[in-house]
Amino acid sequence: MKPIRRLLVVLHGANLDLLGERPVAHYGRITLRELEELVAAEAARWGWDCVCRQTNYEGEFIELIHRHRYAGALLVNPGAWTHYSYAIRDALELVQAPVAEVHLSDIAKREPWRRHSVISEVVTFTISGKGADGYLEAVRRLIAGDGTDRP
Ligand code: DQA
Repeated sequence: MKPIRRLLVVLHGANLDLLGERPVAHYGRITLRELEELVAAEAARWGWDCVCRQTNYEGEFIELIHRHRYAGALLVNPGAWTHYSYAIRDALELVQAPVAEVHLSDIAKREPWRRHSVISEVVTFTISGKGADGYLEAVRRLIAGDGTDRP
């Protein structure tokens, strides 16, 4: 099956529904809704549609990856699952589209257990520590790539 062109799917994992209430030093004051609106507006600027989903259930996150594996591009922030979910890693490995891993905070400069991402090997690129700007950069890079090739 050919990827669905010009559809960006944005998936947020555990606890990201409470952005705005989470520690400001790491995540800023932006809410998830505001972040999703920014991302959708950036995608629209380039003529892409955007679907945004958030879940606190790992199995549902995996099913969302399965469902959207033929989208034009995926942007994922799995939250804490980033650091230990081999099941999410395996699901992302099946995705045909380019995948951006994005973190609001700089996970490389936080607690030791947060410094490792088990998904980074199977994504196209990772952006960490740039807040909402990192999301917009990821959207532009995904859309500019406009392809399915992994690096
Ligand atoms: C996060 C970083 C993770 O370590 C954390 O568990 C999150 C958010 C980020 O966006 O910086 O929930 O992915």
